[in-house]
Amino acid sequence: MVFQIIEYNSGEYLQMVDLRYEVLRKPLKLTFTPEDLEKDKQDLLLISRYSPEGKITGCCILTPLNEHTIQLRQMAVADFMRGKGLGSELLNYAETTASERMFSYIYLHARETAIDFYKKNGYTIEGDRFIEVGIPHFEMIKKL
Ligand SMILES: CC(C)(COP(=O)(O)OP(=O)(O)OC[C@H]1O[C@@H](n2cnc3c(N)ncnc32)[C@H](O)[C@@H]1OP(=O)(O)O)[C@@H](O)C(=O)NCCC(=O)NCCS
Repeated sequence: MVFQIIEYNSGEYLQMVDLRYEVLRKPLKLTFTPEDLEKDKQDLLLISRYSPEGKITGCCILTPLNEHTIQLRQMAVADFMRGKGLGSELLNYAETTASERMFSYIYLHARETAIDFYKKNGYTIEGDRFIEVGIPHFEMIKKL
């Protein structure tokens, strides 16, 4: 598997948005608005794919919050690739990317169903359960 940072509005970006829609929005009967996608412009857009030109199998986004902390969001692995370790590899790539840019913490909003996945990768829950996109989430954090 190859891990890359891609450009906003590139061909890869459009494939990434398709994957995010299939995995994160369609099951909740939601779509992306132009304003949602506008938020990606300044962010680090990370993907995994079979080969340098191959099909995108997973993605996530890193959004700087302040000098020390970067937020991980839109974490998605293609349905047929789940449970094989790709999510953990992608998370590891995101952590390395954040460390290289001198961030000390990764912060995220974890869906309740994904909490064990993040715990397994060293993240801890902070604060109370809350609702986002209509489903329960928890704030989680990891020191890099
Ligand atoms: C969550 C997700 C990114 C994990 O990716 P993955 O490639 O399946 O994860 P990995 O194979 O690296 O690790 C899976 C491990 O986490 C555990 N796990 C806990 N909750 C899980 C969940 N909801 N989905 C998958 N694995 C989960 C599994 O038991 C497994 O542990 P094991 O290796 O000890 O058996 C992926 O399943 C996904 O895209 N899910 C749908 C979208 C989503 O929930 N995204 C996160 C939003 S916060």
